[in-house]
Amino acid sequence: MKLTQEQIKAYEEEGYVLLPGLFSQEEAALMKSRLPLLYRMDREEVIKEKSGVVRTVFAAHTFDDVFAQVARHPRLIEPARQLLGSDVYMHQFKINAKAAFNGDIWQWHQDFGTWHQDDGMPEARAMNVAIFLDEVNEFNGPLMFIPRSHMLGRLDASHDRSTTSYPLWTLDNAKVSELVEQGGIVAPKGRAGTVLIFQSTLVHASSPNLSPWDRNTLYVTTNAVDNAITRFKRPDYIAHRDFTPIQTVGDDALSGFLHAVA
Ligand code: SIN
Ligand code: MN
Repeated sequence: MKLTQEQIKAYEEEGYVLLPGLFSQEEAALMKSRLPLLYRMDREEVIKEKSGVVRTVFAAHTFDDVFAQVARHPRLIEPARQLLGSDVYMHQFKINAKAAFNGDIWQWHQDFGTWHQDDGMPEARAMNVAIFLDEVNEFNGPLMFIPRSHMLGRLDASHDRSTTSYPLWTLDNAKVSELVEQGGIVAPKGRAGTVLIFQSTLVHASSPNLSPWDRNTLYVTTNAVDNAITRFKRPDYIAHRDFTPIQTVGDDALSGFLHAVA
């Protein structure tokens, strides 16, 4: 699957590109159907919010058959290769639950801040490719972006270990105010199955989910193979050590599972 020139331009200039309905409702429902089992698992990859509900499941592609296929899906990996101009490997694979009523915030940050500081990623040649597993609307804690903030490169950040259950390198309020004055804030929304690709230096955050609707989102973080991490401080289920290029599966890789559940 190839992005159009217009989509590439949006990614380069605005810092993100939204691909509405790239996966079918059925494919999204299949992915979502695996979550209750994952969220009940008692394993270190399952991170809880302070309230006790699941915040994130890391590396589900290593212990779930459907997500093993999703991690190699051409609708995610081909655009990543195209935008990075390189073969890619999987730096991180995570599902953020952002549960109805309980999903906690993600503070203002750049992903590259954490990948550089904690994982020794040399350059900002990695990106997130997200799949909405639920409809994302204005009420269930959508991702908020400051358009064009990626152009500024890596910004000063401090290590926040206390606001949420998950440590992150975050920006201070004065810097965020300054950036928002220049770029505003957008919150891309869409139905389940929509894909959202964004630059690793794009400043983003999300609010708590006070709505009655879950906001499960899957994030595939691909990194250029010649930009592999150099520091191994975080567990390998958070920052992977397998730098081999991802071999894609067929575009219909999920259809066997769909027939099995039909
Ligand atoms: C992230 O910034 O990595 C996740 C934010 C979110 O899922 O809201
Ligand atoms: Mn992030």
